[in-house]
Amino acid sequence: MRALITGGAGFIGSRLRAALLDAGHEAMVIDDLRLGHPQPAPHERLRVVIDSLGGDAAADAVRAFAPEAVFHLAAIHYIPYTEAHPEETWQVNVDGTAWVLKLCEDIAPRAVVACSSAAVYGFSDAPLHEDSPFAPRGVYGETKVETERLLGSFAAAHPGARVAAARLFNVYGPGDRNPHLMPALMDQIRRGETIKVGNTWPKRDYVHVNDAAAALLRLSEGPPGYAAYNVGTGIGTSVTSLIDDLVSVAGLSGRSAQCEVDSARVRADDGHLVSDSSRIIADTGWRPRVRLRDGLAWLVEDVA
Ligand SMILES: NC(=O)c1ccc[n+]([C@@H]2O[C@H](COP(=O)([O-])OP(=O)(O)OC[C@H]3O[C@@H](n4cnc5c(N)ncnc54)[C@H](O)[C@@H]3O)[C@@H](O)[C@H]2O)c1
Repeated sequence: MRALITGGAGFIGSRLRAALLDAGHEAMVIDDLRLGHPQPAPHERLRVVIDSLGGDAAADAVRAFAPEAVFHLAAIHYIPYTEAHPEETWQVNVDGTAWVLKLCEDIAPRAVVACSSAAVYGFSDAPLHEDSPFAPRGVYGETKVETERLLGSFAAAHPGARVAAARLFNVYGPGDRNPHLMPALMDQIRRGETIKVGNTWPKRDYVHVNDAAAALLRLSEGPPGYAAYNVGTGIGTSVTSLIDDLVSVAGLSGRSAQCEVDSARVRADDGHLVSDSSRIIADTGWRPRVRLRDGLAWLVEDVA
């Protein structure tokens, strides 16, 4: 199969790219490397176009490549950045998606899978199901709600296509350049510093990047029609528990880690975001394979 990956130089895109190439597929990456990810290494079945969504070079290359599956990952998603740059976020996340879908009208791929996010939901004490109401808390979540609306409209107009929105929860693993909690914790461990955290009680659903990439692949293989899918483990982990695990895993590899609450990072508006992933499991057979402690141990080894 020929597969296009927008954002294919990024954290999750790199893993998806490797998975596609390992499975013998041809891949094309469109990425403008704005986050400083390295340009993907040459491979006989990989084409790399360094251009932004909306660029002429990218459009020409995609039309010539005529992908059978389109994985749309390129987006801006570090929340503080998106709040500080709402117009840029809307332009990349929403206009960028509209541009990808317009191209899809020309190339008629069999499958279109785009990354949405748990940020479309509000906080909840119970696991979030795909039918839970949209309640985005800021620009980023709003752009993902709009992304899903665009996907739904595209699917309605192209009933022969498989179209899926992957509502990824907290993806972790090596290579995340956005200063999310996990990379920040790993940096502090790497420097031997005391780990500084904000709220310690909210639970998040940490899904390993290998599992996230596998889910995107599975979602491209389904029958025609549109659906949104949660991609998470179903296990909520509080920041306290995450740090306990990291400390113990780091201790196992001979490193120490201490943590303290930094009042500047404490947020009033906070809560739990945990996935009910029964839909993706039932429809595709995907299951998260990497246990959090194993994923953390790999991360700690990575910084050793
Ligand atoms: N990482 C997570 O925890 C997480 C959680 C939920 C959803 N998501 C979604 O998954 C997708 C991939 O996330 P990631 O963590 O790999 O992000 P990332 O920031 O590591 O990768 C995104 C890639 O897109 C590229 N890009 C951004 N804007 C572009 C543009 N206008 N034109 C071309 N390239 C552009 C960047 O250079 C980067 O390489 C995003 O859509 C994100 O919203 C991620």
